[in-house]
Amino acid sequence: MSTSSIAASQVLDRVLVLEMVRVTEAAAISAAKLIGRGDEKAADAAAVEAMRAAFNELEFDGTVVIGEGERDEAPMLYIGEKVGTGKGPKIDIALDPLEGTTITAKAGPNALAVLAIAEDGCLLNAPDVYMDKLAIGPGYERGLVSLDQTPTERVTAFAKAKGVEPGEITVMVLDRPRHEKLIAELRALGCGVHLIPDGDVAGVISVTDPESTVDMYMGSGGAPEGVLAAAALSCVGGQFQGRLLFRNDDEKARAAKWGVTDLNRIYQLEDLVKGDAIFAATGVTDGSLLDGVKRRKDGVLTTESVVMRASSRTIRWVKGEHHKPR
Ligand code: FBP
Repeated sequence: MSTSSIAASQVLDRVLVLEMVRVTEAAAISAAKLIGRGDEKAADAAAVEAMRAAFNELEFDGTVVIGEGERDEAPMLYIGEKVGTGKGPKIDIALDPLEGTTITAKAGPNALAVLAIAEDGCLLNAPDVYMDKLAIGPGYERGLVSLDQTPTERVTAFAKAKGVEPGEITVMVLDRPRHEKLIAELRALGCGVHLIPDGDVAGVISVTDPESTVDMYMGSGGAPEGVLAAAALSCVGGQFQGRLLFRNDDEKARAAKWGVTDLNRIYQLEDLVKGDAIFAATGVTDGSLLDGVKRRKDGVLTTESVVMRASSRTIRWVKGEHHKPR
């Protein structure tokens, strides 16, 4: 039987689950050498190069659908780039070798090396524009909250379902001037607003963490990061909605190029990530999801990663010790 005729659910081979951790570990370790060095570009380039090299060791026919940018603006891991040996299953890849370039340059929290893979054609080819995002954790009625509601309506509905007052709800938001009105509205309701400097992939995922105090995620960030976060939620549960935001005609034209015709569409989780998916992330700096890369006194590098699979809903936390090769 040829690989392409394997039943769709088997395309993402179980072996790939651990292979994906190797890929994010490689990117995180390379980026970590530049933590706190004030050079965002160098940190990103190191992560990109390492991730690409790790991908190219793997027996699959991978295509980057969300990557470092379009071919003319990104030398490596650009959208459409083929990775892997070209043999084996056809896989689409969404990646962000360094999610949190500024965080890494400033040694702040929550920088990650992150990727998601799915079967051919199952990840939204999101243009590199902003996306308005709304996420809540698992266990709530579908459609309880929506991007069509005002922030007040969302919080009120969520608080009622949770059985608490709106003032007891914590909402995570990227700390940006464009969110001033949103933040003021949430604070007027008495909500706790957890502001993050960067890194909304980890931010969105935090709503699914039972140990986190964050109930809801709201606000705009990168659309590619939205697809990555949606891939994680497709594995761990929770609800996510995204709506692309366009600041000018150039961004609208970019969207048209990727086949986006309805500019106001609300994307549900399953519009962003269809079917089976694997999500993997390794911490670069310490954060809410993962510890960052550390160099022990004996010179060994340690990493912490998470890898999840949508079809089996398994979540694996992987601690790596990286010794110098003999
Ligand atoms: P980078 O890794 O590209 O720096 O992205 C960090 C990030 O905070 C994302 O998590 C988020 O989606 C996006 O930037 C928000 O964009 P902006 O900084 O323009 O508000």
